[in-house]
Amino acid sequence: MHAQLALLGGKPLRTKGYPVHATTGEEEKKAVLAVLERAILSEFEGTNNQYFLGGEQVKALEGEWAEKFGVRYAVSFNSATSALFAAVGACAVGPGDEVLITPFTMSATATAILAFNGIPVFADVELDHYNLDPAGLEERITARSRAIFVTHIFGHPAAMGPIMDLAKKHGLRVIEDAAQSPGALYNGKLSGTIGAIGVYSLNCNKVIQCGEGGIAVTDDDDLAQRLRLIRNHGEAVIAAGMAVGSLVNMIGGNYRMTEIEAAIAREQLRKLDDLTQRRRELVSYLNERLRGIPGLGLPGARPDSTHVYYRYALKIDREVIPIDAPLFVKALNAEGLDFYVSYMKPLYLQPLYQRRIGYGDKGCPFSCPFYRGEVSYERGICPQAEELEKMVISTEIVRPPQTFADMEEIARGVEKVLAEKDQLLKYAATEGM
Ligand SMILES: Cc1ncc(COP(=O)(O)O)c(C=O)c1O
Repeated sequence: MHAQLALLGGKPLRTKGYPVHATTGEEEKKAVLAVLERAILSEFEGTNNQYFLGGEQVKALEGEWAEKFGVRYAVSFNSATSALFAAVGACAVGPGDEVLITPFTMSATATAILAFNGIPVFADVELDHYNLDPAGLEERITARSRAIFVTHIFGHPAAMGPIMDLAKKHGLRVIEDAAQSPGALYNGKLSGTIGAIGVYSLNCNKVIQCGEGGIAVTDDDDLAQRLRLIRNHGEAVIAAGMAVGSLVNMIGGNYRMTEIEAAIAREQLRKLDDLTQRRRELVSYLNERLRGIPGLGLPGARPDSTHVYYRYALKIDREVIPIDAPLFVKALNAEGLDFYVSYMKPLYLQPLYQRRIGYGDKGCPFSCPFYRGEVSYERGICPQAEELEKMVISTEIVRPPQTFADMEEIARGVEKVLAEKDQLLKYAATEGM
């Protein structure tokens, strides 16, 4: 029995939208009301006094986060983007310094480097979990390299063992963008707690959230102090008499979290394990339904790691399934299903890198006289990352409040598109896709 694809005028599988990603409940409502009762919505001051480190909710959140993640310091921010900026600043990256980075990440990971006039040097990803490939990393290290920036994309840890070994060998700091992977383990260690600094996001799409927010963690006294200074007008505080070891990157800003966000984040932290478990159950159902389809690679964890499934990614073996990811996604979207092509275009293909325009219109920071290298952003520098656009499709709806029935619908959508691939290929030929 043939079913007409919705893309070609057939009936879509799903006609209603997806419900809001609501991770909050009565506990968060109570916590917010308690903050409102107290009527102190932020207790930070950007001066050298006892309020430099924030209010009671912020401090409590940082203490609880540090305990849960087994680190000495957790420093809260108003977003992971702010925390990433502060992390790069704290690691003393400056004009002319190169930072090795995956191109398969969100733009903020790389712009944090540019914010301190550093130069992102992209290295390729591995095709199993889409993270930085240790194999191609060493050849990109130069005398100008200062740090390695790792993202645990989709909630699965990068191969931190070999990456840390390389960093040690070359005297580089490792910063982990763990925005998508709170709770994911690598060799029994939590992602984000392996390098010098790790950063988590609490934005509204993440596994746990407080609307907007971020947390940086570290075991290093000096890095913790520098993170806090950059969060809260470093230069102003130093002018007001706060002692500091180095003035490098102390420009700082207002990257502070409010008391309401911190109160919500505290409740969310208590729910992290349950919310992650629910994602795993949904993924397990979906994987079982799709297992055995020739040419379809399912997501899962490497034996040394665990996955928190921030996104669910399917890999298409185009030797077996002759449909490129954009066409597959178009057909699934027409069925009413939430899917995206891959994730982000490799970052170096974005106009910022292609046209080398960051600050002003003179090519800074790429043309900075302190930069003596010749970084390339040509198409082809990371062939595997470029390939992902044709072979990976992903969705973020493997999360509460979705149910097994929603997973069943996704499975039926994928099966329908694959069963009718001849219709789809004909369509693509007429559309010139
Ligand atoms: C990998 C990664 N890094 C950084 C960020 C930035 O997080 P935030 O929105 O909290 O600034 C995100 C958010 O989507 C992300 O997925």
